[in-house]
Amino acid sequence: MRHLIAGNWKMNGLTASLAEVEKVCGLVTAGKPNADVLICPPATLIAQAASLARGRIAIGGQDCHKEASGAFTGDISAEMIRDAGGSAVIVGHSERRQYHGETDAMVAEKAHAAWRAGLTAIICIGESDSEREAGRAHEVCGSQIAGSVPEGMTSANTAIAYEPIWAIGTGKTATTADIAQTHAHIRKCLVDRFGAGAADVRILYGGSVKPSNAAEILAVANVGGALVGGASLKASDFHAIFSAVPGH
Ligand code: PGA
Repeated sequence: MRHLIAGNWKMNGLTASLAEVEKVCGLVTAGKPNADVLICPPATLIAQAASLARGRIAIGGQDCHKEASGAFTGDISAEMIRDAGGSAVIVGHSERRQYHGETDAMVAEKAHAAWRAGLTAIICIGESDSEREAGRAHEVCGSQIAGSVPEGMTSANTAIAYEPIWAIGTGKTATTADIAQTHAHIRKCLVDRFGAGAADVRILYGGSVKPSNAAEILAVANVGGALVGGASLKASDFHAIFSAVPGH
């Protein structure tokens, strides 16, 4: 599988930021990176970003509701993301789990909704600082996979994003040795449960990925890409990251 480099703009971006999408598209077309490139802008920009991108890069959402439509003020559905031109959606980001109380079961329902709408689900997992300090990182990731990844997962409909919470937006990244160990553990959990086909599921690393550390992280075994927050907001930084994919 090609690496997937996904940008998560979070709650950043006004219409002027579409210029960055256009720049990224130009850089992808010119540089032919050895990776699939995805930008998940805020929901307000999905439709415009998708029509601007015209398939040169993929566009996705940052969250979706489990239902296709209904009386859920303020929410958007996976079908709406698809209709706006998106092809993927992030579910279970730690900021959703933390600030919106999303549980593993809710994340699993959102992943189902993504598949129902024909979107790739990017299912996020990752331990907190205290869980890590207590030596529970692998156990936490294992139980999040058990609870958040529904039956029916395939390498075509899902990518897993491992984002240690203490590394998100902090400038701290896990060491490559830590990443290698945790990604190997995640791979084992997936293969044990879903069989040999899960060997191809892309496991993205996320948490302060930036131009200066992308090459070493993306070369680690079982790392199938990156979920990039802050450094995806500027086309030049994001370009440096997706150009760092090995084989390019
Ligand atoms: P960061 O965010 O790259 O800014 O640490 C990553 C994420 O939360 O997806």
